[in-house]
Amino acid sequence: MSRERRVIIVSNRLPVTVRTSHAGPKLEHSSGGLVTAMCPVLRQHSGYWIGWTGTERTEEIVQLFDDRRCDNYKLVPLYLTGEERNNFYLGFSNEILWPLFHDLQSRCNFDPAYWKTYVGVNDKFADTLLKVAELHDFVWVQDYHLKLVADSVRKVGANLELAYFHYIPFPSPDIFEKLPWRAKILHALLQYNLLGFQTKRDLKNFVSCVKLFVPDAEISNVGDQTSVSLAGNRSLLGVFPIGIDFSEFADGAEDAQVIARAAQIKKDISGCSMLLGVDRLDYTKGIPERLRAFRYLLESQASICEKITLVQVVVPSRIDIPKYCELRLDIERLVSSINGQFGSPGWVPIHYIHRELDRPELLAYYRAADIAVVTPLKDGMNLVCKEYCAAQVDESGVLILSEFAGAASQLKDGALLVNPTDLEGVGKAIQSAIQMSVVERRQRMQRLRTNIKNEDVYQWAKRFFFESRNVQRSLARVSKTPPQDDPEASNVEE
Ligand code: ADP
Ligand code: F6P
Repeated sequence: MSRERRVIIVSNRLPVTVRTSHAGPKLEHSSGGLVTAMCPVLRQHSGYWIGWTGTERTEEIVQLFDDRRCDNYKLVPLYLTGEERNNFYLGFSNEILWPLFHDLQSRCNFDPAYWKTYVGVNDKFADTLLKVAELHDFVWVQDYHLKLVADSVRKVGANLELAYFHYIPFPSPDIFEKLPWRAKILHALLQYNLLGFQTKRDLKNFVSCVKLFVPDAEISNVGDQTSVSLAGNRSLLGVFPIGIDFSEFADGAEDAQVIARAAQIKKDISGCSMLLGVDRLDYTKGIPERLRAFRYLLESQASICEKITLVQVVVPSRIDIPKYCELRLDIERLVSSINGQFGSPGWVPIHYIHRELDRPELLAYYRAADIAVVTPLKDGMNLVCKEYCAAQVDESGVLILSEFAGAASQLKDGALLVNPTDLEGVGKAIQSAIQMSVVERRQRMQRLRTNIKNEDVYQWAKRFFFESRNVQRSLARVSKTPPQDDPEASNVEE
């Protein structure tokens, strides 16, 4: 990508969210994989980041964002009304798309009012985008909240280059077909010039859905490149497994304070093997299932009691959705019942932490843990497993990973893969991890770390930007004029 090209990020959330307390509103770091991944990438580029503040508009909040930057990025705040927040964010995004795309259709609430607001809010994001974007900017829309932005932009005739990255799984047609707005959503997605998915399976599912529900679309495969043409627009499709800033986690884990804190954590669990779970508090993360697997292990292998401790850290998330509140209660009931049933003086089987940890504290937990148990029921990628390995600088930890995390295909060589609903299987994996020789641990962890380092978030962004050049070339071919801002594109043979 030529240096002068600005990258405009559009995502539901900005990297900071407004939290209001009795002292007034203030900005806090936003949680979740999207922000963890995007922040390092943006240090290398300049442009705008358009996103929701997490609030309605007030003069005090407008001032908080006055000329606010994140590295070289100017933050462009977007405000939602209470109704928009309820129907677009909590409703359509997180009570329809989120559960459905994670294969949990029984959790969906297909309220037609949600769809209407989803369309309106996507138009609102598009309006804001059109105010800042210029013709040769690269616009990169992020995640499932904003599937319709390209369609809204095209409706007003704007000829911007628009790319979209889908962080979460894309379901198979037999799940996707339940969505009442399935064809509209696919048509809208096919207004993007580049569509990125986390895994080959997601891309394959998307193509299968297009074949079934958009019969006019023309799908072509040239080499390993798939594209879809529909009504004059051509979308390139690609697989871009997202990574982390490996060095940031690996270097951070070498910090003297982190090392001292990790030693303290280990001491606090008095010589037990430490299992670690770190998750956003979400029902897709398989936390109750993990706790049940742990209980099953303690029940079936009594000799393991007092030798292992599970530390489960959860960061609160989407707390205004009833299913998330129920989940919190479920988890807390399970933790308390397991601790009551098995605990003894000096040994608490599960240490439960319900808050966001700052980076040094998180790194200390990653360093201290002998085993990370990352067992989502389904996950687009999952960055926690990659962060754990990056922080395992002494290569002694073991990763237990759900086969339903996007990261599984990439990390299957070093991780112990499990089916998160197979309580016995997860228990056995924990036992194998405890008994694993030092040599095998090291070999596995080395393979994991090499892979995660080679496929870090910078490579991810580089590959995405590289693919965007192919988009420019194909647009140039259609218009028969080379794009003006990319010197390489003008060398393309027509
Ligand atoms: P998702 O995108 O669904 O939230 P990921 O695993 O991809 O899931 O990303 C989660 C991110 O949130 C990771 O960067 C992880 O470090 C961070 N995170 C999760 N729990 C906590 C916590 N308790 N404290 C701090 N960060 C957390
Ligand atoms: O990828 C899943 C995702 O929705 C991201 O877009 C975001 O980083 C994370 O989950 C946090 O969710 P929310 O923005 O709803 O708090």
